[in-house]
Amino acid sequence: SLSLRKAAHGIGALTTLPTSGKARSMQYDTVILGAGAAGMMCAAHAGGRVLLVDHAKAPGEKIRISGGGRCNFTNMHCTADAFICANPHFPKSALAKYTQWDFIELVDAHGVKWHEKTLGQLFCDTSAKEIVAMLRGLMDKAQVDLRLQSTLSGIRRTGNGYAMALTTPDTSTKITATHLVIASGGKSIPKMGATGRAYEIAESFGIPVTPTRAGLVPFTFTDARFAPISGTATPARVTAGGTSFDEALLFTHRGLSGPAVLQASSYWHDGAPITLNLLPQNDLFPKLRDQRQTYGRRNFTTELAKHLPARLVDHLATQFDLTGNLADWSDVRLQTLCDTLSNWEMTPSGTEGYRTAEVTLGGIDTDALSSKTMEVKNTPGLYFIGEAVDVTGWLGGYNFQWAWSSGMAAARHI
Ligand code: FDA
Repeated sequence: SLSLRKAAHGIGALTTLPTSGKARSMQYDTVILGAGAAGMMCAAHAGGRVLLVDHAKAPGEKIRISGGGRCNFTNMHCTADAFICANPHFPKSALAKYTQWDFIELVDAHGVKWHEKTLGQLFCDTSAKEIVAMLRGLMDKAQVDLRLQSTLSGIRRTGNGYAMALTTPDTSTKITATHLVIASGGKSIPKMGATGRAYEIAESFGIPVTPTRAGLVPFTFTDARFAPISGTATPARVTAGGTSFDEALLFTHRGLSGPAVLQASSYWHDGAPITLNLLPQNDLFPKLRDQRQTYGRRNFTTELAKHLPARLVDHLATQFDLTGNLADWSDVRLQTLCDTLSNWEMTPSGTEGYRTAEVTLGGIDTDALSSKTMEVKNTPGLYFIGEAVDVTGWLGGYNFQWAWSSGMAAARHI
């Protein structure tokens, strides 16, 4: 089977697999489902004979499109605090054993040039394709057997490992392996090939899965209340579920977006209110009071538009009755408005859902996994890594770092 594996290495050699009917069994040390960030990282470092299976036409598609094509591949401030998990301690071990600095060392060693954009977020200078190429290079070096447009079915436990069927465009082959790693991601962006396969596999082994929902996703309002000001952006503090983020807020045709909103969405639950603080610097009251001395005869909204986008002020004027000249506004009235704009509560109808969500919250229950190795505690040789697991990072490179760290945790144990 070694020569078969070598002959079939790479996509071009798929036809060298035995044809269906003459089902011959192929043996690997490790089979990995999902050639995304976590699966490729694990495949490149697991050692031994590795089969990596993905139903997509190319590996690492989300890496390729991420960060506007430049891939925000990690964050310099990465700690476990930036992750949402039913057990907040769970991500600590993997993140500490393979850190952002380790990944930075890896990209440096491969000549990938990068820069910090903002808030510790590291992006490729040239193209996200460089990260995919780096991982493919590492996999080639490790002689990983990559099968694209392929999938696994009939996965079952055997005496000393796992048995399953590998279905490629041309064949169906029986496979056995000592280790089976599920790295098929979450449900985000089905158009890009996301499936709930990891959860189905977990359930078939009796492994609990925590409820999943879309994260890092825009909010929607059925009344399209912000449509007239869509495209307007302003710095804001957005709070959901008791957690706040200070970043840009963007009004859209269907609701709210922008980094502050995407971050807060991961802490939001259906039917709960969110709060917008349009004055995160908290300095509008003294400024308007000063302006009143010089420009008291000017229209209030004209003066307010010196501090907030004019289209937003027009919208606020209808919401909060911002009439009259600045001189008409007493200190109390000014303060009341500032309080309102600092604490503008509303309840979204929902989110844009998995169609546009960057991540999936929830997933494989971490109670079932070893935090050091990502192996299922009562099922030796079975691992879950990456987004499939109930570990979700903030916006800003944290999710790829989880993919690298969890992929590496499994690889080192294998
Ligand atoms: P990932 O989704 O990468 O890989 C899963 C693989 O499994 C895919 O290749 C898929 O085809 C395959 N698969 C699924 N079901 C299968 C089946 N049934 N059979 C066979 N194969 C199957 N994060 C970040 O840190 N920085 C960023 O800049 C961005 N940007 C970004 C942009 C956009 C548009 C999205 C949607 C997401 C991001 N993210 C991000 C999040 C990041 O992409 C995500 O967290 C990781 O890709 C997760 O890595 P995984 O390897 O776990 O899953």
